Amino acid sequence: MTDFVQGLPKAELHLHIEGTLEPELLFALAAENDVALPYGSAAEARAAYDFQNLQAFLDLYYGGMAVLRRAEDFSRLTRAYLDRAAADGVRHAEIFFDPQAHTARGVAFDTVLAGITQALDNHAPTLGMTTRLILCFLRDRPVAEAMETLHAALDHKDSILAVGLDSAERDHPPEPFRPVFDRARTEGFLTVAHAGEEGPAAHVTGALDALGARRIDHGVAAMDDPALVRRLAEAQVPLTVCPLSNVKLQVVDDLADHPLKAMLEAGILATVNSDDPAYFGGYVAENYRAAAAALGLAKAELTQLARNSFQAAFLPDPQKRAHLAAVDAYAAAQPA
Ligand code: ADE
Ligand code: ZN
Repeated sequence: MTDFVQGLPKAELHLHIEGTLEPELLFALAAENDVALPYGSAAEARAAYDFQNLQAFLDLYYGGMAVLRRAEDFSRLTRAYLDRAAADGVRHAEIFFDPQAHTARGVAFDTVLAGITQALDNHAPTLGMTTRLILCFLRDRPVAEAMETLHAALDHKDSILAVGLDSAERDHPPEPFRPVFDRARTEGFLTVAHAGEEGPAAHVTGALDALGARRIDHGVAAMDDPALVRRLAEAQVPLTVCPLSNVKLQVVDDLADHPLKAMLEAGILATVNSDDPAYFGGYVAENYRAAAAALGLAKAELTQLARNSFQAAFLPDPQKRAHLAAVDAYAAAQPA
């Protein structure tokens, strides 16, 4: 199963670039940028990655970003992710970034974007990968700040395809962000949103109805609402599910309890992704492998998940068809 998963062509649709900051790069950048860290070593940092909930993770995640200061820091981060993703069979990645987490500490929007796009434009093609960029607004910061961030993005429509909503979900429903998402869609951006990770099924409905979300990031809580499950299945709204993240942040008690298989059985277009792999113990192939082992997913179901990832991608139809054909050819060439 290990070899099958690694080589299986796949798209990654839920990946926070800041969540790929491995402790080794954290330490290297801390030294170069003269930033003090609360850990003595990379091993000590890793040992601290033990989270009670989403907020406990977010505190550490935003703290770690202090080492990202120069455009080249963002480039190095992004290049390292692309290398790991390519090794995991990722052919296409739609990558989140959190500009407010950087502008709030004095790093300019254009510095962040220039660093990330430098790596996407120059490095991804050498790996045979295509990429898109999704700007996420932080839902625990003011709506007006999200609107300002959207204004900063208007000059960069060539490099930003979509906008999303992330950060602390509890007590932060999607509806207040409706004007920001309305404006984003008017300006031609696609929209997605984190919902139903720590929040209720109603946040998923709100993300669809108030934000026009074309995909739901996580969506685990949607399974609590049978009418919503039917809606997601009928409309084929993709869910970008992140199994290892859900275990690490205690969204599910155990991977064996994860609803991923039930989502597939309900006809939902579920996909598997890594979220913040430097913090959650595995990149995307490891998410497929761990889910397969815990839930008893057969090769046919893993192939379905890989097909779903391209089906759910924001790619033109001819490119989707080519990727789907590659998945099918790969699966057909493997022993049963
Ligand atoms: N930002 C980075 N990872 C996140 C997650 N799992 N949920 C919400 N916001 C995030
Ligand atoms: Zn996420």
